[in-house]
Amino acid sequence: MPSTVVIGAQWGDEGKGKIIDILSRRSDYIVRYQGGNNAGHTVVIGDKSFILHLVPSGILHKGKKCVIGNGVVVNPAALIDEIEGLQKSGISVGSNLLVSEEAHLIFPYHWKIDELREIAKGKGKIGTTKRGIGPCYTDKVARCGIRMADLLDDKIFRSKLKENLKEKNAILKRVYGFKGYSFDKLYRKYSLYRKKIRRYITDTTLAVNKALDEGKRVLFEGAQGTLLDVDFGTYPYVTSSNSTAGGACVGTGVGPARIGKVVGVVKAYTTRVGEGPFPTEFSDRLMGIIRTKGKEFGATTGRPRRCGWFDAIIVKHSVMVNGIKEIVITKLDVLDDLRVIKICTGYKHKGKIYKTFPANIEMLFDIKPQYEEVPGWLCDTTGITNYKKLPSNAKKYLKRLSDIVDTKISMVSVGSDRKQTLKL
Ligand code: GDP
Ligand code: IMO
Ligand code: MG
Repeated sequence: MPSTVVIGAQWGDEGKGKIIDILSRRSDYIVRYQGGNNAGHTVVIGDKSFILHLVPSGILHKGKKCVIGNGVVVNPAALIDEIEGLQKSGISVGSNLLVSEEAHLIFPYHWKIDELREIAKGKGKIGTTKRGIGPCYTDKVARCGIRMADLLDDKIFRSKLKENLKEKNAILKRVYGFKGYSFDKLYRKYSLYRKKIRRYITDTTLAVNKALDEGKRVLFEGAQGTLLDVDFGTYPYVTSSNSTAGGACVGTGVGPARIGKVVGVVKAYTTRVGEGPFPTEFSDRLMGIIRTKGKEFGATTGRPRRCGWFDAIIVKHSVMVNGIKEIVITKLDVLDDLRVIKICTGYKHKGKIYKTFPANIEMLFDIKPQYEEVPGWLCDTTGITNYKKLPSNAKKYLKRLSDIVDTKISMVSVGSDRKQTLKL
């Protein structure tokens, strides 16, 4: 079956962009199925670095079709910026980009509500990217969202925007004391966007299914990570979409039986951006060391990422809910200088040891991680190009991770460049 879903198995930023870029070489279609420009996927090619937010990471390869599926929420201003930025860097974006006519549009009232709701929550905030993702998905489920197909039809667009603004402006004014948005200004802005993006908008469900019928190889690019999934993550400290592999079906209109395999991208340690429980989070000293060495700052918001030890409980949970058949371990090199490395293999709560991920998320704030320790390798791995040449303690660490999460490792990454990738 020529289709693969690539997902993040932790809290996002696992290095999906780098891995998608590598797997794109052997793919014909690269398809985003959820999330929006809350994502930041970095691809490094020599001295050039690209951060992709909405456009699939396969765009950097010539001759590939890149698809933004129906499950993605699209801020047209961000999409246009990204397309123009890529074109300025010499990347061709034209008939190789397809945007679903069923994808929902993000409007300024979405990001304003996102921002104001976070401020109102105070200490209890989620720490969102403030890109309007949650409010846009809220409208989708509330059945008042505006889709790409609506944007293409001026009459429908006018009427839907008018209706939405009536409600949104009332909420903005009465709940948050914000003045609201003018219909005319928004209408004019989005009419300009329509001109710029109409050429990309099409029936992507048909396109992707047809590609599969013809035996083309399709790569589904997950955004965020499993623990940010609205159902299987650390709710409510999650994003508003299904970032797990199942999202690839509903976010593109491809049936589950057409999914060949699921690859999980896993960082050799753990990070998260934003609020919420993080059982294996480092104390200050190690936090500083790993954040600096791993350059752990958000690719979208620039916020410092929280860092911690590898948590096997959450990765085992990911393996199960995504049906992961193989994992790719990234950023192994970031651990090069550590004498001792810890792996969390259980959670202790009120005297009881848990080996599986608890549904009661509140408990996660309160648990004591149970660690096993392995010796570090204390040498630079960034120049290694063959798995066999890795120091034996690094191989032992990888073997231990693979054994605990009961999944084979197919690739190991030791740097951000394409070349710094070891196949197993
Ligand atoms: P994504 O959201 O999962 O695509 O990940 P991000 O791009 O947000 O964050 C991953 C960061 O780690 C990027 O800056 C990558 O260039 C970098 N990166 C990826 N793999 C490796 C690796 O093996 N080692 C190091 N040091 N950096 C890596
Ligand atoms: P990629 O694809 C890491 C986090 C935010 C916040 C929560 C909800 O680059 O891995 P949202 O704006 O989605 O409503 O925020 O989700 N978050 C991410 N964290 N990587 C991402 O994407 C993220 N996208 C959202 O920090 O905690
Ligand atoms: Mg990222």
